[in-house]
Amino acid sequence: MPQCVLPWLTSWSIQRALAKRLPDPLRVLYVSTELYPALKTGGLADVNAALPKALLGLGVDIRLLLPAYPALLQAAAGLRPVAQLRSPFGDIEVRLLYGQIDSVPVYLIEAGNLYQRPDNPYVDGEGRDWPDNYLQFALLSWTAASFADGAIDDWRPDIVHGHDWHAGLAPAYLAARAGARPGSVFTVHNLAFQGAFPATIFNKLALPAGFFSMDGLEFYGNVNYMKSGLHFADRITTVSPMYSLEIQTPEQGFGMDGVLRARAGAVCGILNGVDYDLWNPQSDTTIAARYCAQDAAGKGECKHALRAEFGLASSGGPVFCVISRLTAQKGVDLVLDALPALLRRGGQMVLLGSGEPALEAQLRVAAARFRGAVGVRLGYDERLAHRILAGSDVIVVPSRFEPCGLTQLYGLAYGTLPLVHHVGGLADTVRDTTKERLAAGTATGFTFEGATLGGLREAAARAFALWSKPVLWEQVRRTAMSQQFGWAAPARHYRDLYQDLRPVAQ
Ligand code: ADP
Ligand code: GLC
Repeated sequence: MPQCVLPWLTSWSIQRALAKRLPDPLRVLYVSTELYPALKTGGLADVNAALPKALLGLGVDIRLLLPAYPALLQAAAGLRPVAQLRSPFGDIEVRLLYGQIDSVPVYLIEAGNLYQRPDNPYVDGEGRDWPDNYLQFALLSWTAASFADGAIDDWRPDIVHGHDWHAGLAPAYLAARAGARPGSVFTVHNLAFQGAFPATIFNKLALPAGFFSMDGLEFYGNVNYMKSGLHFADRITTVSPMYSLEIQTPEQGFGMDGVLRARAGAVCGILNGVDYDLWNPQSDTTIAARYCAQDAAGKGECKHALRAEFGLASSGGPVFCVISRLTAQKGVDLVLDALPALLRRGGQMVLLGSGEPALEAQLRVAAARFRGAVGVRLGYDERLAHRILAGSDVIVVPSRFEPCGLTQLYGLAYGTLPLVHHVGGLADTVRDTTKERLAAGTATGFTFEGATLGGLREAAARAFALWSKPVLWEQVRRTAMSQQFGWAAPARHYRDLYQDLRPVAQ
């Protein structure tokens, strides 16, 4: 007998060693809705464009799954049909196309007219949720789970990684499957949007009846797609470590803090990164002049060009900017309230944003009232965002809550010091200019506690004080520009998380 055991053991250990040397690549299906530059409503699109690329670089076999929105179909290359699926949603025929967008493998879901939404995937021209949102995102998640048995395109993911409530049902559809299933990761980009629908839609979802319960995706009598993700996923991630803690409190939990606390052991925060191929003043061809941490002369040219573009008077004061969705979350109302004081001190302000009509109207009024000192552009303009970042001295991000936030990171890269509310990802990424940090050379911006006008004004006063000491300002600018928030570290973190989950995903 021993003679038999030994060869068996040996071949087993050789197999293990080989497996270590030639690891089977991790297969990950990355499920989301938008993708920069083809289709973007916010930072999610930036993340979806950059993170999969970084993971591909680590050898992960990652493929995106997205609805075939017209803009994505147009952006894709080499599309070919790979599967025809019979969905449980009435007579909707699903056709899966496989191709690449910007060299990243992507599956696009065609489903009759369901994804024929030329502009915004979530809301109509009036900003109202599409009435069939429950269906378009149920189908997205159901399709993701349909990959579980490897019948589609001969490819079986080890992990299904869904993003925000749009993909929140994916872990539920996986949990409903009998037998082996991939592991599931669910990333919360913004807990404020939950995908809550009346209970009456539950019967249309083709999920086990028992799933509509407290111990499932029911939440205060509604079907809640976010709760589904939080409840059924094997692991939950948030887009910054601070946010992962904040949302477990009643103040910041949007009602889900209890659900999250119950799953605390499965929650972790992984900070978003910056795609420095796109956001780098040294190589950015959309700005007036290039510059870097050591030689920022070009930034002066960018500022000159920005003032000319917005009709701002020439001045020795700092230019503040805001680049933002205009919603209550972002605290742009606080900036408007603080404007008179900022201008009195010799500052100027450029705002780029779109969103709630009432806020847009207030921005228009401010532009007219403070002509020559305040510039406003309403709308969505990616290239202008670069010019504003390069030409400004301070980017203001007074968000009431901020899961991560990307514009403060872009601000750091462009030497445009972030002035931010100390919350969520803003707290994780900006180091306040205190006396001690100034002495240590570690300060990168200005932070304030509490999203209040007083807080914002106090931090702005400190920004003006630093501005009056150009040598110190330059020091902080250089420190800000030398911060590294690339995607390599976060991608390794996600890779390790997938790897940990692989054994349970059988
Ligand atoms: P959120 O996703 O909550 O809107 P982020 O800071 O994560 O916030 O990401 C916002 C992204 O959208 C950034 O890439 C920012 O530059 C961009 N952005 C926001 N508003 C505009 C706008 N009006 N025009 C161009 N880009 C914008
Ligand atoms: C959400 C959040 C934002 C985050 C982005 C990308 O839109 O509001 O803070 O940076 O997702 O993760």
